[in-house]
Amino acid sequence: MALRLGDIAPDFTSESSEGVIRFHEWLGKSWGVLYSHPADYTPVCTTELGMTAKLKDEFDRRNVKVIAVSVDSKESHLGWIKDINETQGTRVNFPILADPNREVATLYDMIHPNADTTATVRSVFIIDPSRKVRLILTYPASTGRNFNEILRVIDSMQLTDGHSVATPVNWKDGDDVIIVPSLKDEEVIKKKFPKGYKALKPYLRVTPQPNK
Ligand code: BEZ
Repeated sequence: MALRLGDIAPDFTSESSEGVIRFHEWLGKSWGVLYSHPADYTPVCTTELGMTAKLKDEFDRRNVKVIAVSVDSKESHLGWIKDINETQGTRVNFPILADPNREVATLYDMIHPNADTTATVRSVFIIDPSRKVRLILTYPASTGRNFNEILRVIDSMQLTDGHSVATPVNWKDGDDVIIVPSLKDEEVIKKKFPKGYKALKPYLRVTPQPNK
């Protein structure tokens, strides 16, 4: 059965561009982003991997480790990484799993046979430090992903995990947030949100971002 939000991310051991990875051990206490690429030496993936490398400080700041998977060999990955570094003006600074037998791709249901029988779609799994899958994205092979959106969702999840809030449409770090409807006790609300809040409707209460 396909993975769903809240499931434990399946563990695996796989060769990668940086040596053998035992996934859960490699994740440690970090958040993780596992994302797939249809194949090596493909143009869209080249730009995505370059962007991921450039965003390393942003991922580090959020305690996130990123790992890519592509259904080719380690040797192929190492050659491709040289091209990525050259064309994207960066250095790939995270592992790319070598998955020629499609073991990881199958475990994470990254091959959608009605889209393509062999290549993976562009999947993204965001995994929290308790190893739960917190977000799943599936993009077609011809559309590169938006890594600002991936960072934005991580910001939202890390914020909403620690406070009784949810983030509204197009929210970005620093914007006002929504007090969860289940929180009804006025005294608790006052303590949790000392900056105050605006109730547009009883179920729609807006407050400044509490951790800013
Ligand atoms: C790719 O770069 O991965 C790609 C480009 C066009 C169509 C499909 C995949």
